[in-house]
Amino acid sequence: MTVALVTGGGSGIGQATARLLAERGAQVVVADVDASTAQATASEIGKSAAAIAVDVADGASVEAMVAFTVERFGGLDWACNIAGIAPDPKPFLDHSYADWQRTIDVNLSGVFFCMQHELRQMVVQGRGGAIVNMSSGAGIVPAPGQPQYTAAKHGVLGLTKQAAQEFAALGVRVNAVLPGQTETGPMRAYLDGMPDGGERMLRRLPMKRMATPLEIAQAVVWLCSDDASYVNGDSLVVDGGLITR
Ligand SMILES: NC(=O)c1ccc[n+]([C@@H]2O[C@H](COP(=O)([O-])OP(=O)(O)OC[C@H]3O[C@@H](n4cnc5c(N)ncnc54)[C@H](O)[C@@H]3O)[C@@H](O)[C@H]2O)c1
Repeated sequence: MTVALVTGGGSGIGQATARLLAERGAQVVVADVDASTAQATASEIGKSAAAIAVDVADGASVEAMVAFTVERFGGLDWACNIAGIAPDPKPFLDHSYADWQRTIDVNLSGVFFCMQHELRQMVVQGRGGAIVNMSSGAGIVPAPGQPQYTAAKHGVLGLTKQAAQEFAALGVRVNAVLPGQTETGPMRAYLDGMPDGGERMLRRLPMKRMATPLEIAQAVVWLCSDDASYVNGDSLVVDGGLITR
């Protein structure tokens, strides 16, 4: 049976991914810094899921997460590195070093730590695997007011391509998903922070609506699956056509 790991699995896109993986027959570890939402998601899925608390910005915590996955379900086939945070938008010159560093720690170093420990396990197993990293439209174009988020999400694409080259011969594929605006808690807070509640931004979306978390999860799970068996090092934009405008 396929064993999958999802960071940020307690809410939003990660939660939708964990649910979908389980629906498609995988055993799923739901990992999140919020132990209660991770546990609630795993309990809702049932016997084929287990929860663990992790801080992806802490290498030792990530190592323990992968060890837990192997102990609980006997290996690791698919890893979805989805955990992330969004900083408060501000003018470029107003961001402090602390603002910068926390987002880099979680959104970029976190993906690096996850990939290192996941790849170590996949190499030891010798049966290939798939990793999907969560970038963003901000991996290609800037997120207004969030320079550290933009830098981190660009960096995730670099890490993805790097590992895709190095591990392809071992049968491990590494890809990234770049969602556009998706209806989750942080996106809602971001829109609510705008003077017009995000009205203008929503009108600019080609499909006149945001993505649902499930629509992003479907891309993640496809990239993990054998249906994407020759897709490697790719950056899959799932934004309803926004970036092509
Ligand atoms: N919602 C969007 O519009 C959108 C667009 C592009 C990219 N993304 C990316 O998608 C991912 C998921 O975002 P979301 O909108 O579902 O947000 P969300 O807040 O609903 O989910 C993120 C999850 O990550 C967890 N998390 C935060 N810091 C963590 C840490 N240090 N260690 C482990 N878990 C941690 C949170 O507890 C939360 O459950 C993020 O990487 C985000 O940057 C979201």
